[in-house]
Amino acid sequence: MNSHQPELRAAVRRLGRRHFLTLTAAAAALAFATELPAAGAASVPELDARKITENPFTLGLASGDPLPDSVVLWTRLAPRPLEPDSGLPEKRVVVTWELAHDEMFLRPVRGGTVTAHPEFDHTLHVEVPGLDPDRPYYYRFRTGAWASPTGRTRTAPAADTAKSQLKLAAVACQAYHHGYYTPYRHLAGEDLDLVVHLGDYLYEYAVDSAGGARGYTDRLLPAHFDREAMTLADYRLRYALYKSDPDLAAAHAAHPFVVTWDDHETENNYAGGRSENNDPPEEFLLRRAGAYRAYWENQPLRAPQRPRGPDMRLYRRLTFGRLAQFDILDTRQYRSERAYGGGWHKSGPESEAASRTMTGETQERWLLDGWKGSGATWNVVPQQVTFARRRDVPTADFKLSMDAWDGYPAARKRFLDGAEAAGVQNLMVLDGDAHVGYGFDLKKDFDDPDSRTVATEISTTSVSSGKDGADKPANFDSLVQANPHLKFYNGRRGYTVITLGTDRARADFRTVSEVTRPGGTLTTAASFVTEAGRPGLIPA
Ligand SMILES: [Fe+2]
Repeated sequence: MNSHQPELRAAVRRLGRRHFLTLTAAAAALAFATELPAAGAASVPELDARKITENPFTLGLASGDPLPDSVVLWTRLAPRPLEPDSGLPEKRVVVTWELAHDEMFLRPVRGGTVTAHPEFDHTLHVEVPGLDPDRPYYYRFRTGAWASPTGRTRTAPAADTAKSQLKLAAVACQAYHHGYYTPYRHLAGEDLDLVVHLGDYLYEYAVDSAGGARGYTDRLLPAHFDREAMTLADYRLRYALYKSDPDLAAAHAAHPFVVTWDDHETENNYAGGRSENNDPPEEFLLRRAGAYRAYWENQPLRAPQRPRGPDMRLYRRLTFGRLAQFDILDTRQYRSERAYGGGWHKSGPESEAASRTMTGETQERWLLDGWKGSGATWNVVPQQVTFARRRDVPTADFKLSMDAWDGYPAARKRFLDGAEAAGVQNLMVLDGDAHVGYGFDLKKDFDDPDSRTVATEISTTSVSSGKDGADKPANFDSLVQANPHLKFYNGRRGYTVITLGTDRARADFRTVSEVTRPGGTLTTAASFVTEAGRPGLIPA
């Protein structure tokens, strides 16, 4: 059942012999504990919620993964979010939840009580069933004397209905220490059906006492943030820091999120079980188990996504009536090692090997099979890294990013050929990672600019990673010249609003003036459309 049993057995043996990394045996055991204790003797005692004397809803709330009849609601109890125990004892806490048609909760729809377990760091995931399709709902939590803020969410349209429009925002890459989450402040005010997060929700890197580029002068962040996250406890604390940001909390309260991760939620540039610096696999997999568990705990994800040790099924499919099918990929957990050690490198036999995979075989089959059954107008693939061929220079000695799909061209070809064989309509690939906005036409043959455009790619810029950025990055001219299928390139921070309609899709690349100081202003840097049945981006 667990593909990593040999490594984990080795890890347990090593744990007995030496104290590696900063992982203690107890932390490792916790990272692998996926089941709650049975009710009764083994269960921790219940905390009398009336004894919670500080607001436990400091990290706001969230909702996600909308189905036609269900959404998942999330919160985490943390009276002192930046302290290791979040200010709560090792006890269960009973929490009430409510969901209503209206913001005042005058027309209640569903409600109940759930238990926040210390084993899951007092996070809650409520999968609400029996809802009506394609409508907004409002929700909140209560415990003791405390009530959470109110969140708004929305169900998906029913499978067989012809919804005429779906409006989403794509976001990625939110290094806390690179700036304020001003793009989220603006995004919270947009009229959207959902937000799709394409990874790097969290960075494992150290955050100094001033919050890095945020340059706090009114507070000091605790010293435990000023080192790289390695253990489950570290990652949990890091999520608390990120989620304590009011702009991020406002975005979650305003819209349901559909999330997938990239590398930094675990470690920069890891590939499958291989860490950036080639640590022994059993050490890295323990770290990965802690990172994955903290990710699940802190996102509005359903039970099937709950990790088992270092394994977590994050890829999944969501449909929005007949208008759109979303195949949300995980290109980190199962990918082949990076060719030529990663970075920018000339393409060659190592990167071009037919055996190389981005998704692993099982996920690839799931994707290709899923497309065969799709009758959706738009087939959207939210995933992590740049999909199109991207030469760095227009000359013949160009290099490609071995970390993106350019380092896995055989896998890209199977993807595009599979889409064509399945006859999918209007393929749109979404990603982040690059910390710039790109709009690409995806070509049948990237070496032939006259070859057919088979799909479009929207790469959303970062929310904050890379600090303020610039409209025209230093390599603007050479990248545009080297890649005739690159239709848009901008290096500021922001997000992308994508409106899927029955006849066309539209992408509005929103950027902000700055993130290293609060209050950056919003601009739409460019807008493109792609018509149904005619792939390719056209300036709107
Ligand atoms: Fe990133």
